[in-house]
Amino acid sequence: MAITEIIPGLEGVPIAESAISRVDGQRSLLEYRGLSIETLAEHSTFEETCYMLLYGKLPTRTELSDFAADGTRHRRLKYRIVDLLKCLPEHGHPMEALQAAVAAIGMFYPDRYNPNAAQKRLSCLRLIEKVPVVVASFHRLRNGDDNVVPRRDLNIAGNFLYMLTGNEPDPQATRILDICMILHAEHTMNASTFAGRVVASTLAHPYCVVSSALGALSGPLHGGANEQVLQMLERIGSPENARAALARMVETKEKIMGFGHRVYKTVDPRAKILKKYAEDLCRRSGNKLYDIAAKVEEVASEVLSDRGICPNVDFYSGLVYAELGIPRDCFTSVFAMARVVGWLAHWLEQIENNRIFRPTQRYVGKVGDAYVPIADRR
Ligand code: ACO
Repeated sequence: MAITEIIPGLEGVPIAESAISRVDGQRSLLEYRGLSIETLAEHSTFEETCYMLLYGKLPTRTELSDFAADGTRHRRLKYRIVDLLKCLPEHGHPMEALQAAVAAIGMFYPDRYNPNAAQKRLSCLRLIEKVPVVVASFHRLRNGDDNVVPRRDLNIAGNFLYMLTGNEPDPQATRILDICMILHAEHTMNASTFAGRVVASTLAHPYCVVSSALGALSGPLHGGANEQVLQMLERIGSPENARAALARMVETKEKIMGFGHRVYKTVDPRAKILKKYAEDLCRRSGNKLYDIAAKVEEVASEVLSDRGICPNVDFYSGLVYAELGIPRDCFTSVFAMARVVGWLAHWLEQIENNRIFRPTQRYVGKVGDAYVPIADRR
């Protein structure tokens, strides 16, 4: 079948059948395996959400406790991975360190190419458990601090906060991070998931799939936007400046970070949930950035919402992460700590019914050009 029309950014082009998640961008709806994101944020845990995304159903009590307990066995990093993290430049971006570490971690597991059910589960558990540990370890090591050994008695969110600071994690902060991880775990066929599925379609192993997806997530138009939202709010400086600042940005066609989405033409449902936590946390700590953000949202909705440009997940997530004590340049890595499970669910789905991705192009270059010897070129 020859399709000659080029669709920039593949907007609206389905590239796979998927049963993992569903977005309705007009109704502000996101579901994982048929369950709404609001329900999951209220009742589920990140570990349970991982199980459900990977296996397609909510676990029984035993299935969940086995899954979570098995996972904690894979938290430790090989000492050579810690050595690798120590060798990376401390000014390198944490997403670059994470991508390098995930690619390297795979090399330790000869079973990485084995597609039987037990090895698939092992690869998933290793990646879900080790990604947060890499993020926390790189942050400590780049600051010259000793690496903290992961604990098995904490959930993934709690262990991450523990490893980042070396202190007992606050239960409320742990639950808020757990909810953030639920909200970021999966989101249909976005750029990083597509990148991961393309790599999966070559039958590359899952560490390779995840490291490719990490590269795609790192860009400022995708997962990198939450860092830039805080820079923008600081630049605006006060709620009173928001109207003039936005008018300038609209006039110069500068993008408002944390706004706009290919699919959502109304508020991203994840942004609504995160806004509540951002407000609670900032009110408690006296962080004025929330007031600036709320004003930016108010003004932007007057100016942009009729064009379907509304807050996305990144608009309030940075404020929440900052309040949880997460360093700003680690925000995208925290997003990745959650999204790794979505990428893995897509890896499993892709290889279940695989055909290698090999799209085409419309050639617009020269045809049949003559080779000019180097001495005759001007
Ligand atoms: N601020 C101002 N204008 C915007 C914004 C924005 N944040 N987003 C889109 N627009 C405008 C564009 O300028 C364009 O206007 P035009 O038609 O007059 O040229 C129109 O809306 C369509 O925008 P595109 O960039 O073509 O939309 P696309 O669907 O390709 O991109 C994207 C979506 C990349 C998310 C875009 O909205 C954006 O750059 N937002 C800012 C970055 C951001 O917040 N990214 C995080 C997204 S969520 C996530 O990945 C986790």
